[in-house]
Amino acid sequence: MKLGVNIDHIAVLRNARLVNDPDPMDALGIVKRAGGDQITIHLREDRRHITDEDAKRIIENSFLPVNLECSLDEEIIDIVCSLKPHRATLVPEKREEVTTEGGLDVIGQSKRLEAAVSKLRQADIAVSLFIDPDIKTIEASAQLPVDMIELHTGTYANLYAMLHTNLSRSIHSIKSLESLSRSELNDALNESIAQLQKGAKKAAELKLEVAAGHGLNYHNLDEILKISEIEELNIGQSIVARSVYTGLEAAVKEMKALIA
Ligand code: PXP
Repeated sequence: MKLGVNIDHIAVLRNARLVNDPDPMDALGIVKRAGGDQITIHLREDRRHITDEDAKRIIENSFLPVNLECSLDEEIIDIVCSLKPHRATLVPEKREEVTTEGGLDVIGQSKRLEAAVSKLRQADIAVSLFIDPDIKTIEASAQLPVDMIELHTGTYANLYAMLHTNLSRSIHSIKSLESLSRSELNDALNESIAQLQKGAKKAAELKLEVAAGHGLNYHNLDEILKISEIEELNIGQSIVARSVYTGLEAAVKEMKALIA
């Protein structure tokens, strides 16, 4: 299983002070040394963490392929085309969100999506779509000239957190689940796993490579790792959080050992 290490949150920490410390660039060698397979970054419209200059320097200097997440915004797509990452992962984006909530509306946004995919393909950039594990959405994705989909594991991760960890119940994205009983939460967790299984199978049948990500951590990977069609995981927050205590190299090595 390949590991894409999302280093956005190193930039979050850097941006807490107006000094270049920690510099996300320093992660490039460490992630490679620790066995990571890919650097993942998200150039958000509001530039809340990775900046254009970061993205440029990371893409120019990375020892590993760079997977650049971005929205469908035309200006952003033009920037991504000029940056030429190894791959662009198209994600939905809302300014007020804490993190990416839900997958792309591939059917409803088909025209915008086609335009973005076509520009990226012309710039010789591989394209992945970040989508929910919904069969119709996966089928619509396979109609586009994309190489890969990344299944959104957020619902699964939120349900897992509520059932099996002490993750705060006040977290915005899991508020809607608070009224559920434990057994309802358990049913919903099993349903989310079944959807990921079915989604990954369908995508592989349609000859799409399958990645997964969002909310994955050192505790919730077992069910995800059983899904044989998933070839790559993109993980950020939990690795950077652990690195505060263990160092980035140990945090990446530990994750890589778990998913190998
Ligand atoms: N994959 C995609 C498409 C994302 O948008 C994100 C969050 O930036 C991740 C993976 C990583 O999520 P997390 O930080 O929760 O591991």
